Amino acid sequence: AQPIVDLSDNVLTARLPSGDSVTVYLYGATVTSWKTGNGAEQLFLSSAAALDGSKPIRGGIPLVFPVFGPPPKTHATGQLPQHGFARNTYWEFLGKSSSESLGRKADDSVKLDFGLSPANLDEATRKKWPYEFGLVYSVTLGKGKLECLLHVQNKGDQSFEFQSLFHTYLAVKDIHKTAVKGLKSSPYVDKVRSAQTFTEESSSLSFSGETDRVYTPPQDTKAANPLVPLVVTEDGKESFVVTRDALPDVTVWNGWEDKIKGMGDFEPKDGWKRYLCIEPGSVSSWTKLEGGDAWEGGATYESKL
Ligand code: BG6
Repeated sequence: AQPIVDLSDNVLTARLPSGDSVTVYLYGATVTSWKTGNGAEQLFLSSAAALDGSKPIRGGIPLVFPVFGPPPKTHATGQLPQHGFARNTYWEFLGKSSSESLGRKADDSVKLDFGLSPANLDEATRKKWPYEFGLVYSVTLGKGKLECLLHVQNKGDQSFEFQSLFHTYLAVKDIHKTAVKGLKSSPYVDKVRSAQTFTEESSSLSFSGETDRVYTPPQDTKAANPLVPLVVTEDGKESFVVTRDALPDVTVWNGWEDKIKGMGDFEPKDGWKRYLCIEPGSVSSWTKLEGGDAWEGGATYESKL
């Protein structure tokens, strides 16, 4: 058996013989569903999310590029919307590669490639960020695993600066019983406490209120991958392991009851209890790309339950 890949009405679905599946909207190249072989949904998607291209999709994995958060007014991204334009532009589907071509068994995984270039932007956005860029976003579905890889190329002769991040809404059963390991001793900027910097003291971060923090965990320079994995636990059991490649920062976000109440596209209203955003990215500083240069960053989510 081979993976089945289907593209209709700008929505791409892929399914492995094992039953693992993924859905990606070309709008934003947003992953809206990732199910493991037993049919369990791993991502949170708001039931009120706009899926018609009218605004960024609330839930799944929106892709943040070229700026995270509200753009600084004095930066070259200053005129762009919050989190940039990648999540509210239609991408192109470039094609699939099966794992055979990647040297693995045919039914093990499937890689889906999406592309975005200035030609896909509307004119107003192109004017606001007039650089010659090329993005290739690869989503690889494996057994119990989802890998996201972003390749950024500067195709012009003018350098540009960017930030990028996978704004992943993980589905959890109960935020009150959810914790994150791997952040101990990490400096973080706390957006809830007026953007001050703190150091994480807990080896297992739990949640009891609105949380909006950008962590930059210390790197393990002796390890093959210096970026330490993050482990999400539910009821004390490992539920997700998140590994990162060239993405030094991790935003941890849950809006909690009051903030979510005020978000028109977030339903059901008690849905805040059932998601946790773990967002690997490169956002605490700018990555500068000279003309002709390229950069790549990625994250892999493994479902353990
Ligand atoms: C998080 C930010 O990454 O995204 C939060 O840290 C923000 O501050 C959240 O509220 C949602 O952003 P948006 O633009 O999708 O509503």
